[in-house]
Amino acid sequence: MSRADHPLLRDPGYALLKRRILAVTGLAYFQDKDEALAERLQRRLAACRAAGCAGYLALLEADSSGTGEWDPLVGELTIGETFFFRYSQQFQALRDQLLPETIARNAAGRSLRLWSAGCATGAEAYSLAALVRAALGERLSEWRVTILGTDINRAFLAQARRGEFSEWALRDVAPADRAAVVEPGPGGWRVRPELRGMVEFRHHNLIDLAPEPAPDDWLADFDIILCRNVMIYFDQPTLAALAPKLAARLVSHGWLLIGHAEGGTPFQADFEPVLAPGAILYQRRQDRRTERRATGVGQRLHRTAATARPAPWRTIATPAPSPPPAPLPPDPVAFYQDALALRQAEQAEAAEQALRRAIYLDRGFAMAHLQLGDLLRRRGDLAGALKAFTNALRCLAEFGEDQPVPAGELSAAELRSLLVGQLRQLRA
Ligand SMILES: C[S@@+](CC[C@H](N)C(=O)[O-])C[C@H]1O[C@@H](n2cnc3c(N)ncnc32)[C@H](O)[C@@H]1O
Repeated sequence: MSRADHPLLRDPGYALLKRRILAVTGLAYFQDKDEALAERLQRRLAACRAAGCAGYLALLEADSSGTGEWDPLVGELTIGETFFFRYSQQFQALRDQLLPETIARNAAGRSLRLWSAGCATGAEAYSLAALVRAALGERLSEWRVTILGTDINRAFLAQARRGEFSEWALRDVAPADRAAVVEPGPGGWRVRPELRGMVEFRHHNLIDLAPEPAPDDWLADFDIILCRNVMIYFDQPTLAALAPKLAARLVSHGWLLIGHAEGGTPFQADFEPVLAPGAILYQRRQDRRTERRATGVGQRLHRTAATARPAPWRTIATPAPSPPPAPLPPDPVAFYQDALALRQAEQAEAAEQALRRAIYLDRGFAMAHLQLGDLLRRRGDLAGALKAFTNALRCLAEFGEDQPVPAGELSAAELRSLLVGQLRQLRA
């Protein structure tokens, strides 16, 4: 029997069952993956001794609390891949810019609220806890810090609460930096008790998020939300519905961090994309129609760049110069990636050289022009920055609105809006 012949696909109740599961979980990922879905469903049908799809759907519908058959089904359907300090550039921006900025803004109320939405087994939330602890230092006990991890998968949450991780989950944390985050534990590592005490894990389905928080809503007034590698499983209408809901859960000037492949037009109405070295961050727009409260004054990243410190978690290895075994054609993307690493390592001149090399090899390389513009602007070369941003904009002429920009994390429309904003600031 080939996979395409899965008997469940011939069950007359399959289409309805599939529709219901995708509507409840948002996992549109399975829309065109019937064989994969059927295989997972088959395991649950067998475990429940359900005769067919209609019988299994009846079981699900009878589970009003969501803790009966929905739980193991969600366990079959969700993917919990996660690791500490995933996307180091985003964590660097958090540590150097977003957290210092937020702590300064909230100094009067001494409260900090962070949400890891779709936290899986918790590495992301614990990474945040480590950063907050380092950022507040001795002031930590005087602050009300909320770090919330939520997920649709209760088994992941139970694992997250235990705080036990394998070596693999720590692959991006240099051995010398691990002691601040973990200690040896069962199966490898255990998160340090002081960090475990900072994080709360609760069950939540993002599809159930209401458009606006209710009074005293536990999911409200966040300074920073991380919702990364979750929305890749959702479809465009779900994303379009979720983007303003996430914005509504942020304070004015709050930040949203999403995965590399998750940007795009749904975020533009409610968030302003902001460029940090190697990462795009989203700041809640001030002109959202549903403004709830106005606190503090947000700052653009380039204004806070003076507070940047070298990365404590991970040193960027500079590869030893060794001649390649055979000459390869020069790759503009490789130069671009080098430039990002060099910018992280605060080697601006070498980064500029690498970016110019990338542009020399590919004049239409929008992201390289963008990074060059940002680098020159930070150095105070406003004329150079203006030229580079204009070049980046020119490169986008060929792209459709929703088309992803090569080597970027965002769509052409998003990059265009980012560039127009940068040019406006430079000309002001
Ligand atoms: C690949 S993990 C990402 C974990 C972490 N955010 C990271 O980037 O390392 C995706 C997580 O999203 C969760 N998820 C999927 N659909 C969800 C939903 N509708 N509501 C809440 N969480 C969901 C999954 O259970 C899974 O734990």
